[in-house]
Amino acid sequence: MPIGTLDQIQSAGKTVLLRLDLNSPIDPATNLILDDKRFREHIPTILALEKSRVVVVTHQSRPGKKDFTTLEAHAEKLAQLIQRPVTYVDDIFGHCARDAIRAMRIGDVLMLENVRFSAEENLKLKPEDAVKTHLVRKLAQMGDLFVNDAFGTAHRSQPTMVGLPLAMRSVAGLLMEKEVTTLSRVFDDAPGPVFMVLGGTKVDDSMDVA
Ligand code: 3PG
Repeated sequence: MPIGTLDQIQSAGKTVLLRLDLNSPIDPATNLILDDKRFREHIPTILALEKSRVVVVTHQSRPGKKDFTTLEAHAEKLAQLIQRPVTYVDDIFGHCARDAIRAMRIGDVLMLENVRFSAEENLKLKPEDAVKTHLVRKLAQMGDLFVNDAFGTAHRSQPTMVGLPLAMRSVAGLLMEKEVTTLSRVFDDAPGPVFMVLGGTKVDDSMDVA
């Protein structure tokens, strides 16, 4: 299925909700991020949006796990890597988040709180139900466009992944585009047989994919 891409939209001057996957290994004792690979993978998309106001929507871990935490350290890490300030707001769609977005200027990057702090984000929903959640309805009012770069979360049918694209003009970010293009080449174009090596730390998910 063809996906919409960043070069097909006019994002300059707009407020962009940017879904990233910054879910990373964390030392629960110190809250230090132990691996910044996922951050680095998203940098091209963030730089491509330098003429927009970029509102990062992302998650860390899941409720009940030791590394389920706030995103202050994530905002700091991202700021170091893109060498620009990243404002962290400890709110997802309340008035603090909305006021902070209203105060943004072109080129600013802001990170909302761990979106899985909203109970609705942890539900597995069909897109037509996800779009009706309070989370999606509120977030959709906070930006002009939705850019989804969270390829690492693309297997989750959760509200920000499958509901926001129905609620707003939406395209894939550069990482999502690269991954989908590469996968399409393997599945659609490669003359078989194809030999695949699956890596990753979540063995259950790898087994499902296999
Ligand atoms: C991942 O690391 O696989 C994604 O961030 C999705 O996280 P999850 O497995 O907790 O849904």
